Amino acid sequence: MRLAVLASGEGTNLQAILDEGLPVVLVVCNRAGAGCVRRAEAAGVPVVVSPHGAWASREAYDAELLRILGERDVDTVALAGFMRILGPALVRAFPGRIVNIHPSLLPAFPGLHAIRQALEHGVRVTGVTVHLVDEGVDTGPILAQRAVQVREDDDEDSLACRIHAVEHVLYPEVLRRLATADDGR
Ligand code: GRF
Repeated sequence: MRLAVLASGEGTNLQAILDEGLPVVLVVCNRAGAGCVRRAEAAGVPVVVSPHGAWASREAYDAELLRILGERDVDTVALAGFMRILGPALVRAFPGRIVNIHPSLLPAFPGLHAIRQALEHGVRVTGVTVHLVDEGVDTGPILAQRAVQVREDDDEDSLACRIHAVEHVLYPEVLRRLATADDGR
């Protein structure tokens, strides 16, 4: 496996993937100065910062991402808080090989602010989903899920904190499984 992690933010999931010793050959970040860039640098993993705003259209940015991934011979992509929807050309270039983590039990609460959506809805159980990326938003085949109880006194921060702790175990676990399956081929 030659794994690229695409991230936009703090990069705590990236960190968990790096700590698991997975074969990360590249980190791509679309926001200069984000925590994920520092984490990649600290781990000595090549990182490309490519702000999407520099590109005229989604198609042009996707083509640039394809070029960057191709340069490093990437065969698997893990989205880890990458705040950008991938277009069809990119999704089709890696069939069944783009994975995402989402902070809810999909298909509940797709899209932005999943943790806030869950609190506003008043669910007693939410969780984490790792799924393959298709051309929809958080709609691809589910690979793994783990539940997180919502407490009476939870706010967005306290719930996010417990959800992130689960993400940091589940995401590396699923990616490890995929890497091991590749090794056995
Ligand atoms: C995570 O909650 C993940 O589920 C969502 O974005 C967040 C990224 O956090 N897709 P981090 O940058 O990995 O800390």
